Amino acid sequence: MMLDKALDYLKRGHFILLHDSSDRENEVDMVISAKHVTPEHIAQMRQFAGGLICIAVDDIISRNLKLQYMHESLQQYSVDEHKDMIYNSTKYGDHPSFSMWINHTEVKTGITDYDRALTANEMARVAEMPEPYQINYFKRMFKVPGHIPLLKSAPDLIKTRQGHTEMSTYLLRLAEMSPVSVICEMMDSITHKALSLDKAKKYADSNRIPMLEASEILNHSKIYA
Ligand code: 5RP
Ligand code: CA
Ligand code: ZN
Repeated sequence: MMLDKALDYLKRGHFILLHDSSDRENEVDMVISAKHVTPEHIAQMRQFAGGLICIAVDDIISRNLKLQYMHESLQQYSVDEHKDMIYNSTKYGDHPSFSMWINHTEVKTGITDYDRALTANEMARVAEMPEPYQINYFKRMFKVPGHIPLLKSAPDLIKTRQGHTEMSTYLLRLAEMSPVSVICEMMDSITHKALSLDKAKKYADSNRIPMLEASEILNHSKIYA
């Protein structure tokens, strides 16, 4: 089963590809665990995915770290003139999962492959700490605004929202790993649109990366809920 293969790849610190659905974004994201991501992986995402490199955090760690959705913070703190600009819902129906953008304190600019891998690795470390230490380490060791957006998973994950954010978190939990991933949308430099499903499948096959459909994850969650 592709799901088992994907879990095995994640456990071994490799990429998987994840497609949401044709009636949502219809995008394929490269997904890897934040604990295992290396500067080489960040380079691979830049060159072969080309979307936005983000760190997706599970709902429990998000709550422990008091992460807020960006659209909610803006609603609260932006000037009145900007309030109508806020995305409360996207064109495909969901609210955005963006929270704040972070850098680890040890980085120089925050954008290099080394810097982004470090920021992601350290976020995975936060998730592995006992709960009372998480927020203290987080506020001491990370700065905002940084160069990687945190994506906050919705409570109850895919029961509530079926984004790449929640699906990648769900997979890491199934794999019994720190529920923090690095994800990036695959783009097409020829059409200048999102990479089609066919082209993503070809990339997956030629690079021996398992590619999962959201439906497989949703079916699993229905059976094992
Ligand atoms: C951040 C995004 C991506 O679509 C990413 O996959 C997370 O969003 P979602 O959970 O809505 O799929 O917009 O670049
Ligand atoms: Ca998106
Ligand atoms: Zn997405």
